Amino acid sequence: MAGVPAEVKLFDPLLGEDGADAMLRLAEAFGTYRTYSEERTEENYGDLPQRIDAASNYVRTGGRFGRRDEPVSALADRTNYFRETYAYGEEIRAPGIEPFLHHEGFVEAARALHGRDVIVPAIVYANLLLPGQELAVHTDVPEFRGANRLRLPQWLMVVMHHSGRFADWRMPIATGVAYFGNAVEGAFAYYPDGVDGPAVALPVHHDTAVLLDTDAVFHGVDRVGTEGVAVPPLGPAPELTFVGDGRWRMQGAADEPVDYVWDDLRFSVSWKAYCFADDAERAAWAEHADDLSLEVILDRLEEDLRETGRLDGGRPEPRDFAAMLIRTYIRFPEPASA
Ligand SMILES: [Fe+2]
Repeated sequence: MAGVPAEVKLFDPLLGEDGADAMLRLAEAFGTYRTYSEERTEENYGDLPQRIDAASNYVRTGGRFGRRDEPVSALADRTNYFRETYAYGEEIRAPGIEPFLHHEGFVEAARALHGRDVIVPAIVYANLLLPGQELAVHTDVPEFRGANRLRLPQWLMVVMHHSGRFADWRMPIATGVAYFGNAVEGAFAYYPDGVDGPAVALPVHHDTAVLLDTDAVFHGVDRVGTEGVAVPPLGPAPELTFVGDGRWRMQGAADEPVDYVWDDLRFSVSWKAYCFADDAERAAWAEHADDLSLEVILDRLEEDLRETGRLDGGRPEPRDFAAMLIRTYIRFPEPASA
């Protein structure tokens, strides 16, 4: 996916003082946040965690700066951040999110990003990272006609995109990520020149945003907070709750909760929109004309592996074939020295 540098649109300010303040109040009113859990899909294949691609790369490399000085469980807590959905299509789950959902600047930038006119916001979700947490480098889960995160494993859609063999079915998505609050560190790091180019680290500032094609551009979040800060053991079902007066409380694996103030946390809100060429394409999408099936996807990938001399003999068992696809097609940026 190297080649043309990725287009990234910056917003500073995004909403203005009152609008940005309203986002902080909205985050508080929403109340309790849980971590990004494993979603179930209609069709399983290979029986692997949804984002085994990004998770295993993170554990293998120690992240963007190659920090491999911790046990896997501690590394897992570092990337197990808090996430909740504020809007899903037109369904509003956090009242007051409407101006953000329909932000004209995002819509305009999304049109320009893919050169497509019909922009349909799909989801708005919040991400909250504790001091010591980070977001492992990854590309987001793209969508193709018939292949989305409800139906198929997420890593498979990522493989599909990186293979370059499904461009005709791809639904371009624009992603805006906005920041509110005064977190320490936690820069947005991305690779505008592709996997072999250098990373750019954008510092996080209140009421700013970036918009880009996160399905194609590798990105992540650098570690939040002061150097050396540890993440408390989260356990299987941690909860982060606003308790009033600018304070948050995290109940993890320990008996006692851990308290934070706003400035400890890195709060961002992500906006994703489908970018249709025209209304006819939007209709075809909605009607599921020309959908891909799991079998067609696997056959096409297998054919590509054979044509390029990377597979002969029979197709490996699902788990092995899945691992082979991830290894073959998703090439991550190499870690930089810290
Ligand atoms: Fe992402």
